[in-house]
Amino acid sequence: MDTTNAFVVSLISGGAAGTATDLAFFPIDTLKTRLQAKGGFFHNGGFRGLYKGLGSAVVASAPSASLFFMTYDTFKRQFKSTLPTLFPSLSVSTTTHLSHMLAASMGEVAACMVRVPAEVIKQRTQSLQFKTSLESFKYILSNKSGEGVWKGLYRGWSTTIMREIPFTIIQFPLYEHMKQLWASYEKVEKVSPLKGALCGSIAGGFAAAMTTPLDVLKTRLMLSKERISVVTLAKNLVREEGYSVFFSGIGPRTMWISAGGAIFLGVYETVSSFLVSRDSEI
Ligand SMILES: *[C@@H]1O[C@H](CO)[C@@H](O)[C@H](O)[C@H]1NC(C)=O
Repeated sequence: MDTTNAFVVSLISGGAAGTATDLAFFPIDTLKTRLQAKGGFFHNGGFRGLYKGLGSAVVASAPSASLFFMTYDTFKRQFKSTLPTLFPSLSVSTTTHLSHMLAASMGEVAACMVRVPAEVIKQRTQSLQFKTSLESFKYILSNKSGEGVWKGLYRGWSTTIMREIPFTIIQFPLYEHMKQLWASYEKVEKVSPLKGALCGSIAGGFAAAMTTPLDVLKTRLMLSKERISVVTLAKNLVREEGYSVFFSGIGPRTMWISAGGAIFLGVYETVSSFLVSRDSEI
């Protein structure tokens, strides 16, 4: 398959995978946001309206997942060929892991261009600050907060990246490594989509649990009425709510990301292997 086709395969597979996952786990994500929001679960809606904010998730999930996979696949190929020549002393498995990690981090930054505004709009709707995603979006466009439209849309950008990079550095190499181990155990070139999905699920759940404190900070920054720095926010949280606040929502977060990781990577691998096999028939 040439580079253009590989690109299209990443785009379609990533988009399909992202949409399937986001739809399936939306209510659990809402519970998580409400557990993390200031004032707690019941103050922010409890079990009412679990699909509030779905609109922004639907609109954003395919483009952000596609951006991720396009960037990931492109840089993975790039790094795999350049890293060994740049660092000839490193072993093949080290440069392979390093390329996965770097490529996935680049993928996350690219995805955040779409994901961050969508998250701001979504989380404010999930916590019932607004009735619909559209209202939440219009509030930012109106600049009523006084922070400016771009700053408003990208509220929590650096903290989201700060959450995604460690997440990726844990999840992706673990995922690729587990798949490789399983494949060499079975003496096949590639494990089945189902087994790949199981590896993704375990890797994702572990990474999700570890990065929960950064997720809490991101939620609070996005929901805050005024703009506040992440350092000030963290200090306030420790003083007012204690360290345990940094693990709020860890249950739903770990659960949805490990189950979501299985669906996301399962759909991704299935769609891309379908497209690749069809491609080779033509
Ligand atoms: C947003 O509002 C603030 C404060 O009222 C103002 O200083 C700023 O120029 C506005 N920005 C935009 C993009 O309208």
